[in-house]
Amino acid sequence: MKNFFLAPSILSADFARLGEETQKVIDAGSDLIHFDVMDNHYVPNLTMGPMILESLRNYNINVPIDVHLMINPVDNLIPQFAKAGATFITFHPEATLHIERTISLIKEYGCKVGLALNPATSLNFLDYILEKLDLILLMSVNPGFGNQSFLPSTFKKLNQVRKILDAHCSDILLEVDGGVKLENIAEIAFSGANVFVIGSGIFKHPNYDLIIKKIRQELQHAHTRSIH
Ligand code: DX5
Ligand code: ZN
Repeated sequence: MKNFFLAPSILSADFARLGEETQKVIDAGSDLIHFDVMDNHYVPNLTMGPMILESLRNYNINVPIDVHLMINPVDNLIPQFAKAGATFITFHPEATLHIERTISLIKEYGCKVGLALNPATSLNFLDYILEKLDLILLMSVNPGFGNQSFLPSTFKKLNQVRKILDAHCSDILLEVDGGVKLENIAEIAFSGANVFVIGSGIFKHPNYDLIIKKIRQELQHAHTRSIH
């Protein structure tokens, strides 16, 4: 089966039991953990900093962690998140003054680079820097909160990015974030995404093993459909 990666967003986990909750979704078959950082400036909400990331690493969370920075400014916190154990550091181009400099800084600290595009942010931001990215994150909601509805305009955007990547024979990961659920994940995969951030769609379910198993089955359907 072609590779689809599940990235539960711990934004919807029970923060009082964060280590345990994170380990549970890993044991249920997740590929990476999505770690949402909000600063009450770039987005109107406040979440987790590097100390919490470090605590998760100390708790033996050892899958890749995708740190989604919804903060402005960006650069000053990159060293701290890298040292705390980030695998990917994903930032929004509007939140930094010098996009290329931020990319170089993330690489300098040994992390993979992701660029996050909001629903109304142009794909033109990919020009000139595409080959420097490891991951493109398309926001399918406006950033700031979990449990919002998936914006259908994302389907077209996913298609467009998938075409760009195919034209460059690129293996850059294409991640989608916001409103991804069991009910729409097959369509999202069919549109070109291969990394799926899921917050409330997993953590609000009473049985993580069961919901992750069902999500994998839906992805298998999408894969079968794409080869026919
Ligand atoms: C929203 C965050 C998302 C959020 C997704 O700003 O970037 O990662 O946790 O949550 P759901 O899956 O509930 O939409
Ligand atoms: Zn996110």
